[in-house]
Order: sequence, then structure tokens, then C-alpha cells
Amino acid sequence: MSTINETIEAEDGATRRDFLHVAAAGMAGVGAVMAAWPFIDQMNPAADTLALASVEVDLSAIGVGEAVIIKWRGKPVFVRHRTEAEIEAARAVPMDVLVDKQPDAERVQEGHAEWLVVLGVCTHLGCVPLGTKEGDDRGDFGGWFCPCHGSHYDTAGRIRKGPAPKNLEVPTYAFVNDTTLQIG
Ligand code: FES
Repeated sequence: MSTINETIEAEDGATRRDFLHVAAAGMAGVGAVMAAWPFIDQMNPAADTLALASVEVDLSAIGVGEAVIIKWRGKPVFVRHRTEAEIEAARAVPMDVLVDKQPDAERVQEGHAEWLVVLGVCTHLGCVPLGTKEGDDRGDFGGWFCPCHGSHYDTAGRIRKGPAPKNLEVPTYAFVNDTTLQIG
């Protein structure tokens, strides 16, 4: 278990408070890592050890409207501090227009609607969607956009347009206290 609270140099060289990039391995390699996952997984010694792996996130470092990428068990996790407008937009969507029908309230924890936590893995072919870093294209629905084949996710991480069949997965997580989130 480790506490994460750091900034990194973004691609353009500017330090961005809203883009905490955990683990120096770099997200550019995530696609390849995900593709190799079935093979790597077989070499891991103990699945139960992996199942226990968790990571803590300092929420005080993530301002309203900002999001970060956390590396958890080899996968990127998006943690977004949603604005009121983003929450309202997610909750105003009629179920019948959704591909993978799930109310916003079922994708966040009660009393913590401002925090959306989803795996940063497109449900089409596993790319890491854009939308976390400042200036990223968030797609037509203000959430995330996967440019690999054009999947658009909304502010609840639900698939709204494009070939991805499912919403971004919500991992197991809990609030340790008002400013600490534990993933896993
Ligand atoms: Fe995201 Fe294909 S992997 S749209």
C-alpha cells in the first residue's frame, strides 16, 4: 500500500497539478501491457496476493473539475472530482439512450457523487481513453474519448457513442476518510 501525492512533468513540459501520473512506467506503454496481460498473468505467483493489492489516493490534491490517473494492479484508474454541472449532466440522461444502462447513482458512492472512480481501460479493445489531462479531448459527452476507434464516454464514464460495448468499469474502492480514497 502506498500514498500517492505527487505531480509530474506533462508531455509539454509543464507541471500540471491535475495530472498525477503514478508510477514512472508511463501510460504510453499501457496499451502494450494490457495486450500482454493474459501471458503475464500466468506468470504471477499468487492471485490472492494480487487481490490484496490496494493503493491510497490523497483526494485533497484533486481540485473540483480535475482528474488524475492512478496506477493500480498494473491498470490505470481515473479519479475525477466532478463539478455540479458534470453530476447534473450525468443524472439527467434518460436510461433509454444509454448503451449500457446504468444510473449515475449506481456508479458512485452515496454521499460522494462528486468522486467518479473508473478503470481507464476502454471496453472496446483496451486503449486508455483521453479526458483526464487538462486540454484533452473529452469527447462529445464531456467525459472521456478513446481515439483508437472513436468511443465517447460521458461524465459518469458510460459509453455513449462508438464501438465500445460497456461502460468504463468501476473498481472496488472505499473512502478511508474525507480526503483519502483506497482503491482495491
Ligand atoms: Fe477504445 Fe477501440 S479501444 S474505441
